[in-house]
Amino acid sequence: MTGNSKLNRGLVLSAALLGFGLLATSAQAQTADEFQALVNKVHAKYLPLQEGANADYIPILTETPSDLFGVVIVTKDGKVYSAGDVDYKFSIQSVSKPFTAALVMNQQGTEAIREKIGVEPTGLPFNSKMALELYDARSVNPLVNAGAIASVSLVAAKSEEDRWNQVLQNISDFAGEPLTVLEKVYESEYTTAFGNRAIANLLYNYGRLYSDPEEALRVYTRQCSIGVSAKDLGMMGATLANLGVNPVTGKRVMPARDVPELLAIMATAGFYDESGDWMYDAGLPAKTGVGGGIVAVVPGKFAVATFSAPLNKAGNSVRGLHAIRDIAGELGVGVFGPNPE
Ligand code: DON
Repeated sequence: MTGNSKLNRGLVLSAALLGFGLLATSAQAQTADEFQALVNKVHAKYLPLQEGANADYIPILTETPSDLFGVVIVTKDGKVYSAGDVDYKFSIQSVSKPFTAALVMNQQGTEAIREKIGVEPTGLPFNSKMALELYDARSVNPLVNAGAIASVSLVAAKSEEDRWNQVLQNISDFAGEPLTVLEKVYESEYTTAFGNRAIANLLYNYGRLYSDPEEALRVYTRQCSIGVSAKDLGMMGATLANLGVNPVTGKRVMPARDVPELLAIMATAGFYDESGDWMYDAGLPAKTGVGGGIVAVVPGKFAVATFSAPLNKAGNSVRGLHAIRDIAGELGVGVFGPNPE
């Protein structure tokens, strides 16, 4: 290397560091007041919105009051900014899926997820049986029902109880507090889980499920019935923003090296057949659930989580997606650059 090219490299590096410094400064410029004002603003803006309907294929979910609405930002150092119903416990449903995928990544490596489940978005609804027939991977990715049931079956376990305990402990570690199952939700979902039972059996038939199908179905359904608040989801997202360390307990919940792969799946499949629209508008890896929860991650900075039960046709919370999209737009934190508001 010549002296000149060394100098050039030095200048480029300094410029890059300066740029990074400016970015870091602008992140710090998001003050406590700014975060609080923003969650208040989007909460007030979307509370009156009456679009969407509670999920009804799990009968008990129709009973969740549709007017409850919570918005929370949790920073990677554990500061919480909230508005509305952020302590109400609802069922985590599909928001659980990336966190169990993280457990499998930790136990078996990220390649196991690609090879044994898949990482392609389906472009189809979350409970699609057709996707299983269309794609050679069958389970397709860990965020649709098929891939999530396969994730549960991949947890290295000695028994069903061991499998369940690991799943619950892992999600509790992400939240930073012991979580429990909403038993009425479990009962309602398991007694009506004919579609998911079909999916589990089809996967097993194709050699793409790695435990007894009914065991995987039961543990998956219990996982979906775990009670969380919007604040819990925010803390789980903040753990991802903090590269796998829970900001309050300080516990490392997943290896930092696996976080980019996990966020990549959340970016491409977190909103199911609406993931393209979501990334176009908000530009953030995220995960939704039919219980009404959403968590979105601004990598290296913070998480935004919402709760509101009414869903759109893709199964995503209407108030929640509007609120997070506005926050991402106003703060200019989309991962590909600031998205328009
Ligand atoms: O298996 C199911 O259908 C539910 N336990 C979870 C689906 C879900 O949350 C889809 N999310 N938007």
